[in-house]
Amino acid sequence: MASTETSDTQFFNLFSLVLGILIAVAIMLFVTARLIGAHTQGEYVESDPLRVHTLEQNIAPFSREAVAGQDNSALTAAAAPAAPAGGGSAAAVPTTGQAAFQAVCSACHGAGINGAPKAGDKAAWAARIAQGKDVLYQHAINGIRAMPARGGSTWPDATVRMAVDYMVSLVK
Ligand code: HEC
Repeated sequence: MASTETSDTQFFNLFSLVLGILIAVAIMLFVTARLIGAHTQGEYVESDPLRVHTLEQNIAPFSREAVAGQDNSALTAAAAPAAPAGGGSAAAVPTTGQAAFQAVCSACHGAGINGAPKAGDKAAWAARIAQGKDVLYQHAINGIRAMPARGGSTWPDATVRMAVDYMVSLVK
């Protein structure tokens, strides 16, 4: 009995020691990670483009005015970066009917959701095509029943027409 007790005590001591060492190592790793993170993480957060952009907007001058008789060239320089932003949203308008279909129309017409005539389903489209293309264009642009105007997009008429043409071409 006595020898069992000593070996139990020995095991317990050894186990506690190993546990203690592991905890010490874990704490060391944690502290090291925090130390490294204090440098790199901080820099990463500071240089985040979104944060920098917001910051620049917040500290930008409230307004800019041209002053007669002064050099106002800085105004045009400040106005210039706004142009690509406008161009960016224009670039979001698809240039082909297929791209337009994939970007928006396929959400409903891909699987035929909510009674939408399924793309490529000849039977579903036959009666609709029989109305004539102008009616299809009009319904696609202005919406009809569960079909939202322009499919919910803000595209120009021409882009919506291209998307209609593409869906019609699938069942020809
Ligand atoms: C939110 C779902 C939804 C989206 C997105 C959507 N449609 Fe539709 N569409 C429908 C439904 C539903 C119908 C059937 C409406 C009905 O006849 O009751 C329909 C019908 C149509 C028709 C047939 C209209 C007619 O006269 O019979 C055309 C053409 C059409 N959609 C074009 C488009 C185009 C082009 C896009 C993308 C720009 C688009 N749809 C995006 C739901 C959608």
